[in-house]
Amino acid sequence: MTTAKLVNLQVPFHRADLGEAEIQAVSDVIRSGWLTMGAKTFEFERQFAQYIGASHAVAVSSCTAALHLSLEAIGLARGDEVLVPTTTFTASAEVVTYFGARPVLVDIDAATLNIDPQDAERKITPRTKAIIPVHLAGTPCDMEELIDLADQNKLRVIEDAAHALPASYKEKRIGTISELTAFSFYATKTVTTGEGGMITTDREELARRLQIMRLHGIARDAWKRYSAEGSWFYEVLHTGYKYNLTDLQAALGIVQLGKCDEMTSARSRIAARYTAAFQGMECVETPKIPMDRTTSWHLYILRLNLDQLRIDRGRFIRELANRGVSASVHFIPLHLQPAYQRNHNYRIGDLPVAEREYQRSLSLPIFSSMREEEIEQVIWAVSEIASHWSR
Ligand SMILES: Cc1ncc(COP(=O)(O)O)c(C=O)c1O
Repeated sequence: MTTAKLVNLQVPFHRADLGEAEIQAVSDVIRSGWLTMGAKTFEFERQFAQYIGASHAVAVSSCTAALHLSLEAIGLARGDEVLVPTTTFTASAEVVTYFGARPVLVDIDAATLNIDPQDAERKITPRTKAIIPVHLAGTPCDMEELIDLADQNKLRVIEDAAHALPASYKEKRIGTISELTAFSFYATKTVTTGEGGMITTDREELARRLQIMRLHGIARDAWKRYSAEGSWFYEVLHTGYKYNLTDLQAALGIVQLGKCDEMTSARSRIAARYTAAFQGMECVETPKIPMDRTTSWHLYILRLNLDQLRIDRGRFIRELANRGVSASVHFIPLHLQPAYQRNHNYRIGDLPVAEREYQRSLSLPIFSSMREEEIEQVIWAVSEIASHWSR
């Protein structure tokens, strides 16, 4: 393994794990002539619900749509407040603003990078209606504490599980714990349909509302109106949204879901390799997964001990790029983003733990189709930068 040879290799941040089975499944849908939501979508929902262990799974066009419909289903209204961690993607909070409600950003717990229940408690007001815990990188939040907090304050809980397929908390699968859980099948996620999402729930009436609202608020079987057994007649029961998944996407999803455990094991092995290689280094901190949880390893977030290094996080990422490794950052805290500062009056310094951890975090490539030489390249690049730039 020579340095010159390694430098020639480019390791992408992500490469979807797609093969002949996915191509075949999508081709079959094209041949069938039925492209949009239909039998494949319902089959995907059935298999997803079974995989998670939830009573209902409702397929939608994205996790953003899943979060939006979930907030609609709990009746979020103008003037309400919803607690959201600041360390997340904008989707988790922007959906709150769709209702004229306010996303109240909460600081994070430095150990897991997830929402800090104590800070969440401090931010509850008489207007607080719900809390959206985000399982960052696929590592579950402390759901017991959050559910206690929610129960004591009559808050609804909607989990943002965009990263957390599959993950578990105290032996319970994410997707079976609170009343609504939103998943993502975006191109870089652990199971992908290109774009797509799913909501799991055990509550029949919520599932029914989601099914109606994802398709313009028209009755549940209106999707059939162009099929032989369908009818031209339909009723618009509510003003809804166009958030359905298509059979083309569902066909991909069914194949991907079938590989989910295998793909998770592959990411787990990569994470173990990284952790074994980096844990002796003073200048970096590897992710610690609490004993009572399992993670999907959607992301491997490495934290830099900046006092042990002569370079900052930005330079570390550039040094990785110089060695052929693409890294990213998850996430720039929302309260540092212009839209949240302008619209919700956030300022630098408001959520200090999130700011500090953001400054020293980077995400390394971790995906199930990673080749041995790609894993080695990442380990080599991090080790080389660490030894070259350590104090
Ligand atoms: C934490 C989190 N929530 C929600 C989303 C939105 O997912 P989607 O792209 O499926 O709408 C993302 C997407 O990256 C995310 O990272």
